[in-house]
Amino acid sequence: MYNTFFKNLFRKKDITAILHEAETTNGGLRRTLTASGLVALGIGAIIGTGIFVITGQAAAQYAGPALTVSFVISAVGCVFAALCYAEFAAMIPVAGSVYSYSYATMGEFLAWFIGWDLILEYLFACSTVAVGWSGYMQSLLHEWGIDLPYNLARPALEHANGTWALTGSIVNFPAVCIVAIITALLLCGIRQSAWVNSVIVIIKISVILLFVGFGLSYIDTSNWVPYIPENTGEFGHFGWSGIMRGAAVVFFAYLGFDALSTTAQETRNPQRDMPRGILISLIVCALLYVAVTAVLTGMVKYDRLNVDAPIALAIDNAGAGLAWMSPFIKLGAIAGISSVILVMMMGQSRIYYAVSKDGLLPRLFSEVSAKHGVPHNATVFAGIATGVIAGVFPLSVLSELVSIGTLLAFAIVCISVMVLRKTHPELKRPFRVPFVWVIPSLGAFFCLLQMVSLPWATWLRLILWTLAGIVIYFAYGRRNSYLGRKKQ
Ligand code: ALA
Repeated sequence: MYNTFFKNLFRKKDITAILHEAETTNGGLRRTLTASGLVALGIGAIIGTGIFVITGQAAAQYAGPALTVSFVISAVGCVFAALCYAEFAAMIPVAGSVYSYSYATMGEFLAWFIGWDLILEYLFACSTVAVGWSGYMQSLLHEWGIDLPYNLARPALEHANGTWALTGSIVNFPAVCIVAIITALLLCGIRQSAWVNSVIVIIKISVILLFVGFGLSYIDTSNWVPYIPENTGEFGHFGWSGIMRGAAVVFFAYLGFDALSTTAQETRNPQRDMPRGILISLIVCALLYVAVTAVLTGMVKYDRLNVDAPIALAIDNAGAGLAWMSPFIKLGAIAGISSVILVMMMGQSRIYYAVSKDGLLPRLFSEVSAKHGVPHNATVFAGIATGVIAGVFPLSVLSELVSIGTLLAFAIVCISVMVLRKTHPELKRPFRVPFVWVIPSLGAFFCLLQMVSLPWATWLRLILWTLAGIVIYFAYGRRNSYLGRKKQ
């Protein structure tokens, strides 16, 4: 009996069957995305709240001007993970991303655990970004003389010094609104969503280049001194431990390239274009991030940057000379952050879709609308869940939870690449990670290192989330798994 129990936990999906389904019925999804569409989706998903909001907070609280170093450290870890994602996404181009890869390599229970972790990542990422969007939107509205009533402007909860409190507000209304709008757009179809995303990407890159280009002449180099502020005595607050914690927190800013892999089943030529899309979008974003951080911390002393709209603050701080740029920056941020919500929500719905197709979540999540070719129930559910969380929770708690969930997913992808090279050396790999024992090991190591530097409270939330996932698996997934039923 014990044997059967454990055997069931580790039952695996057959890779050739997964590939066969993707090549034949494709689960009702449509292959419309091209290489340039993928790069645009990647940049659309990556650049958002991370650069427009979290940069300032991380510089002010953890790393000071040396946040540029944090960005580089984080990028290195991401490139290692991105190479591993590229190998998988080209080899197993299906909607479930890491979840599907691990179902084929490590068995059902671990796959569920990872799928559940991906839900944490995308659900909380969308919510965080929606809260960031709300901050910028309100700052723009304020400029136009419109202020929302307090009980519609803030999240209902706040978290300070380890304790939760009610803010007196009812809901973060703008955050809920943007989630509703994006859900409606996603329901129209992937081609329409990708088109809107491309327009937004052009706007946000232009705005960032504008900031870097014009901001350069407003840099006061004394703001970069000390470059690495002295540690306050507490781990993670400035000094080298602060740079590491900064790297773990801004890691959030890179998140999104992995969401691209959830669209593999909707890509025309995933074998060739997935690796390109993932790697090009990540590298472009890393370069932009380092440039923006250097200019931002040069324009404003880092300890003043702990605000919801730090780039807007830097522009205002520069005085009349840059005043013309203020509305552009805000509009660019608002548009840019919207595309992150769009791609992350798409990713979230595709995970529900993939997990439900295997019977580990109710069947309704994998229904695909015949008219629009999208998993409509999964999309609506993603919208409701994201809207509720974004309306209630504050940004800081949400973003750290996303980081830990993603780091865990990346570490697992890195390890799985090595496992699969051993267990399935015969599979066709259109893209191969170079130095396969070195790069994935370093990738996993970097991710675990960054996880360790996150606060204990964040770990505790990850543990609670995981326990909830385990309960759901044993109460529902294990009994309803299609793989389990087929084998009976
Ligand atoms: N990378 C995304 C952002 O920064 C999640 O908003």
